[in-house]
Amino acid sequence: MKKLSDCFILSNNISIPCIGFGTWQISDGDAVIQSIHTAIETGYRHIDTAAAYNNEKGVGQAVRSCGLKREEVFVTSKLWNSQRGYEKTLAAFDQTMANLQLDYLDLYLIHWTANAKQFGDDWQKINLETWRAFEKLYKEKRIRAIGLSNFLPHHLEPLLKQAEIAPLVNQIEFHPGYTQRETVDFCNSHQILVEAWSPLGRGKLLSEPELIRIADKHKKSVAQICIKWCLQNGIIPLPKSATASRIKENALIFDFELSDQEIQTIDQLPLCGDSGLHPDKIDF
Ligand code: A2P
Repeated sequence: MKKLSDCFILSNNISIPCIGFGTWQISDGDAVIQSIHTAIETGYRHIDTAAAYNNEKGVGQAVRSCGLKREEVFVTSKLWNSQRGYEKTLAAFDQTMANLQLDYLDLYLIHWTANAKQFGDDWQKINLETWRAFEKLYKEKRIRAIGLSNFLPHHLEPLLKQAEIAPLVNQIEFHPGYTQRETVDFCNSHQILVEAWSPLGRGKLLSEPELIRIADKHKKSVAQICIKWCLQNGIIPLPKSATASRIKENALIFDFELSDQEIQTIDQLPLCGDSGLHPDKIDF
């Protein structure tokens, strides 16, 4: 990857730009519009939102007014947990598209797996019913790619067995100090591209001594090291920032490479900076 518009290729041959601009916790309206315009001017071509972020209207407005053709920007949104199930998913997708005011979506994800804690034995059935709606929307060409978020191997396995169309993406928490190796390996072996939410550990990793040492060596910031490390692991980072200087800083990562030794050192950092949100334990 040499620039922001360079792409990974999903297993259905759709190109997905290698760094996504994360919009979690950026308010709807001017804040998200301004941030996305700065991101697009910087060269980002991939925007990640979700129904739960409550900013889809601003995201859509920013994409429509950014000066690029629709097909030049890759847009992801996600189905919120309260909308699982076949009919509810179809209605939720219509609402997302009404918010975005776009003709199609590039990628739609189930935001969190249903789990046994909330749904007992029904969790697999609920995921499958939701997925059937995703498959229908994909076949109707309203979405170019469909996938999941926060699914672990034991959630993926039953879905893969029954899916007509296999998920193309799994977006998980992934950053130094939280590498979810088992899930990443499972996805890699099933041609599911991994995306990293909170690649900077929501800013919590910036004072980690080992990361500072590597950053200093490359004359880069810790944020840039985290983003580069994701990419060199074959994973799409989705850094979020509402600050223009940081949006630009997070894109300046194509003029250096981490050595194999440095990647290994970062891979092996002890647990740190994680959100504590485990897919089997959440109750929202
Ligand atoms: P802000 O939006 O105020 O710029 P993550 O993507 O891991 O969830 O991290 C997002 C958090 O990290 C936000 O609080 C964001 O702050 C902050 N952040 C993003 N980029 C940088 C950077 N280059 N340096 C320091 N903090 C950053």
